[in-house]
Amino acid sequence: MGIPQNVRLAPQRTMRSLLIGLSHRRSVARLAVRSPLTRPVVARFVAGETLAEALPAITALKNAGLRTTVDVLGESVDSAELAAAAVDRYLATVAALSEQGLDPNVSLKLTQMGLAIGRDVCEANVMRIVDVVRRVSGFVRFDMEDHTQTDATLKIWRAAHDSYPNVGVVVQSALRRSSSDVDAIIAVGGRIRLCKGAYDEPGSVAYRTRAAVDANYARLMERLLLADVYPAVATHDPRLIAKAIEITERERIGRDRFEFQMLYGVRRDLQRTLVDRGYTVRIYVPYGQEWYPYFMRRLAERPANVGFMLRAIVKEERRRLRGR
Ligand code: FDA
Repeated sequence: MGIPQNVRLAPQRTMRSLLIGLSHRRSVARLAVRSPLTRPVVARFVAGETLAEALPAITALKNAGLRTTVDVLGESVDSAELAAAAVDRYLATVAALSEQGLDPNVSLKLTQMGLAIGRDVCEANVMRIVDVVRRVSGFVRFDMEDHTQTDATLKIWRAAHDSYPNVGVVVQSALRRSSSDVDAIIAVGGRIRLCKGAYDEPGSVAYRTRAAVDANYARLMERLLLADVYPAVATHDPRLIAKAIEITERERIGRDRFEFQMLYGVRRDLQRTLVDRGYTVRIYVPYGQEWYPYFMRRLAERPANVGFMLRAIVKEERRRLRGR
């Protein structure tokens, strides 16, 4: 008899909870950000700390036939000044992308736009970005954060989408509510990026086993593909990607009616294979100094990454000692 999946995954889940818990710790963040040892590992997932560093990486992806969406890193902002500064960084990013002939497509988090200060402040900030994106016929995606932000994110998304249809949102298959959210978003013609969910959510609101999250992903993905609302299938999971291909071939859904999305630095081999097979693949490219929580979520997704990081740190430290 096989071991039930939730039991087998228990140690992994503990590691995941630990890493996601650490992602909120500002003291650890300060240490990690200052340490030169973490830099090479962070560089795998983050395209640079500045726009000037990120632009060549975005251009290289374009030249390799990949589309992009750019995330100016930052979240959980608690002052109006910091939120306004984040807006300015997005405006500069959109301007640079369109000047350089790159996709004016950005992804943002509402807690970076001042959601904790107030919904009105946040909405006004977001609309400043949406207005500029509209002028260059670009696209804005609202990332989805933990479940305590879902209602507010969907409300602000709805207002922004009513004013400019090229504003999309994210739905997480880990959340039990997502099935009804998907129906409501499809009903207004909204564009959804479907992902599994990167946060450590309680069982009262979320599926806690990989099997249940994946099964819900497959169900929601099929509904989205059939609804013909240009969904973004955001996963690196080969089984779900194969399922998406199977559904679209069976239902004769053209390759121009959906896209795959993956994270910068993750499964580059799979990104390439899909592009070579004629699929649209968009890469989520984060840049900025506030990479710590984003980076910790990437470690949490694949505990083997922690070993990878430790090996890189040991190697770097040996090199430093040899150089003394
Ligand atoms: P899964 O975790 O099962 O991974 C499948 C395989 O992919 C692994 O076996 C491994 O090979 C590879 N892999 C996955 N993650 C890796 C990593 N970090 N390092 C190395 N290999 C890795 N979440 C969220 O809550 N809100 C959001 O707005 C977004 N936005 C978003 C945009 C895009 C474009 C993507 C691709 C993902 C997100 N996510 C997200 C993150 C998402 O919820 C999820 O945590 C990750 O995509 C990992 O889940 P997978 O679907 O890849 O499956």
